[in-house]
Parts: sequence; C-alpha cells; structure tokens
Amino acid sequence: MGVKIVETCLRDGHQSLFATRMNTDEVLSALPELDKVGYHAIEIWGGATFDACLRFLNEDPWERLRKARKICKHTKLQMLFRGQNILGYRHYADDVVDKFVEKSIKNGIDIIRVFDALNDIRNLERAVKATKKYGGECQIALSYTTSPVHTVKYYVDLAKKVEKLGADSLCIKDMAGVLLPTTAYELISELKKAVKLPIELHSHCTGGLMEMTYQKAIEAGVDIIDCALSPLASGTSQPCTEAFNFAYQGTKYDPKLNVEMLNAAAKKMQVVRQKYIANGLLNPKVLGFNPNILIYQVPGGMLSNLISQLKQQGKEDKLDEVLKEVPHVRKDLGYPPLVTPLSQMVGTQAVMNVITGERYKMVPKEINAYLHGQYGQAPAPVNEEIRKKIIGNDKVITYRPADDLKPEFEKLKKQYKHIAKTDEDVLSLALFPEVAMKFFEQRKADKKPTRIKLKA
Ligand code: CO
Repeated sequence: MGVKIVETCLRDGHQSLFATRMNTDEVLSALPELDKVGYHAIEIWGGATFDACLRFLNEDPWERLRKARKICKHTKLQMLFRGQNILGYRHYADDVVDKFVEKSIKNGIDIIRVFDALNDIRNLERAVKATKKYGGECQIALSYTTSPVHTVKYYVDLAKKVEKLGADSLCIKDMAGVLLPTTAYELISELKKAVKLPIELHSHCTGGLMEMTYQKAIEAGVDIIDCALSPLASGTSQPCTEAFNFAYQGTKYDPKLNVEMLNAAAKKMQVVRQKYIANGLLNPKVLGFNPNILIYQVPGGMLSNLISQLKQQGKEDKLDEVLKEVPHVRKDLGYPPLVTPLSQMVGTQAVMNVITGERYKMVPKEINAYLHGQYGQAPAPVNEEIRKKIIGNDKVITYRPADDLKPEFEKLKKQYKHIAKTDEDVLSLALFPEVAMKFFEQRKADKKPTRIKLKA
C-alpha cells in the first residue's frame, strides 16, 4: 500500500502562513473537491483555528465544523488537541476534557491528534480515554526536538508507552522543521521495529529540508505524511501535496491521489492565497526559507515572536544574544520541546535574562509554575540551583497536574447560563473566556427581534 497523505491546508497551512485567518466560506470553498482527492484525512480544527474564529472572524468554530462535516462525506476530518490543555492555555479538569472530546466527535471530528508539550504521557491519558469512549480515532503526537536527552531511543521508549495507552496511531510532530533526513530515516526505522502502530510524520519546510526528510522517512516505512495543497504549501507550512503525489506515481509508495480533484481544489485555494497576499496578511517572507532555525533550533513562529518582543523594547540589536541564551534556558529547564506554550515561556525568559543582564532576575509567572511541576514532568532534570533561586523551598508536585482539579463543567455551565445556549457554547467560554464572551454578546445583540411587518 502506498504512503497516505493528510491534507493540512485548512488548519496548519493557513495557521503557518497567515495567522489562521481563513474564514469559514473560504475553508468550505474547496472542500467538495478535497473530499474526492483520496486523502487519509483532512486536518481542519485546532487551538488556533478555534481561537481565530471567535477572536478575529466573529464566527462560531463549532458551526464551521458542522458545515464541513456536511460537505465532507468520504474523508475523515482531523483535529489537533493539546492534551489536558484541550485547545486553551491552562490545564482543565477531566470532565471538561471528556465533554470537549464528546462534542468534537458529535459535531464531526473523526481523528483527534493529542499532544503534550513536554511529552508527559500522564497529560495525554484522559484525552485518549475520552476519544475511545466516544468512538473517535486517537492519534498521539510526540513533540520532536533536539537535545542530549531527545535521542532516537527516547522516542522509541515513548512510542511503546503510547501503544500501551491505546492510541490508534503515532505521529512525530516536528513543529520547528528541524528533523534531518538521516535522523528521520533512523527514527522511523526504529519506531517501525518497536511498535505496530501506523506512524505519521508532521513537519514544516521553514529550514528548507522537509522534502528530503519526508523522502527518507518514506524510504524508512512511514505510513502517513502531512502535506499542504500547493497554494498553501512550503515556507513555514508543510511540503506540497501534489509534488509528493507526482514524485511517487507508479512506485510502491504511490499515494494515488485524484489529480483532477487536486487541481480543482488548488484553483480555489489559489484565490484565497491571492487575497491574503493582497491584504498583506500573507507576508512573502514566510514563503522563503529560514536556515537560522537549523542553527538555533527555534521554531519559525518563536523566532518572529522574539524579534517583535525585542522591537517593542527597542532592543532589536540583542537578537543574537537572546538566540544564544535560549539553549541555556532550555538546559536549565530540563530541555522542554519548544512548542506552545513552552516556546513562548522559554523565549520570554531568554529575553528577560538578556535585557536585565542577570539570569532569572525576572521570571514570568508561567516559568514559576513550571518549576513547581504544574506543567508536568520535564524531559530531563531541571537545574536545582536555579529552581531554588526562583521558588525557594516551595513544594514541587510530582503527580499528574490535573489530579488537583475538581470537576468543573457543571460549574461553568451555571456560570454562563445567561449567555450560553448549548454545551458547545459553554466549552467555547471555558477555553477562551473573554474572546468567547464578546462573541456571544455580539450574537445576542444581532438577534434582537426585528419588528414584524403587519399585513396590510
Ligand atoms: Co505544524
């Protein structure tokens, strides 16, 4: 059987290229054709798509999902899920995780890809259980990064735990695009030997390597690759779907996608691309390559965040120093992978260390919580001297952080009963309280009864 392809243009594609601003009409425009391409799945939902719907587009993300499900009759729909954080930024109680999974599946999601920034398996358990309970397909994604502890063996050991946990498949999530072709070959080969699960590779072209890395992964037996349709491919996004379909035509890896439907869908997505180039949201800069990410091992999004953080303080000249500080901070913190929310936390700490001229003189509250164990277990031991300097003799938790959380869904439901009409509304409010509240208040205002015309 050939290599399978997951289409990412409707989630990661526009998230990576133009801040997730594609609206529902645009997302749906090419879906009838995409549905007939023959993909393994179409990725359509995740934290940023959910947030951007409410925050910037004045749209209900649940509505988008239901509409997509109606159109998409042949292909599975996939979403990205941040473990115990769901799609938000804090840990939620187990009953909220359950409810969100239940409603995602009921509204149209088939595959839930769950990941945890620290690869702390305990933070994934509940989402996996809930997905199975409500009849969904569960994929666990391991955050890929490089460090002295993130060896091939580290990932193989984790993969065995993932298989035991009951996941249906495993994904290597290389959010920064730093997986080298030779490492990919070794990693995928070893994973295929160690577990029976289908293996998927997710990466970004940012550093200019990914077509090579995907090729080596395919040769090593990877089952599924994440690609984006040409108008939303490359640069900070995924490798091009059509190119991989052509590259392997007639070989044992042939993805066998429908070229006619690919072209028809690409034509429609081309219109979307042109719109975002014209309005400036798609900066041509992100379409090129940035080899610096391979030197500093920093994801593209984090790099642009650091630049804007420094700009705001008039310290742009400190960028090199900050980039050199990032590996120090990572080491002190036990080498967390640089993915949301750790990428922002490590970046901010590195900026503070450089600007104050003294390490950990200023510490963001999230780093403080991290050192208390509130995000889960660090991949390697943290620097105890630094921990002591920051949190003193405070207790550090060693159990699953969500064990401290009491059920909260019914409480949230009561709290929002004046504005939430459905459980889906309650979940939106639980994840993005301020943004969702604004959205629902607007919805209420828009629905004020208009005067009924009387018959003459
Ligand atoms: Co990605």
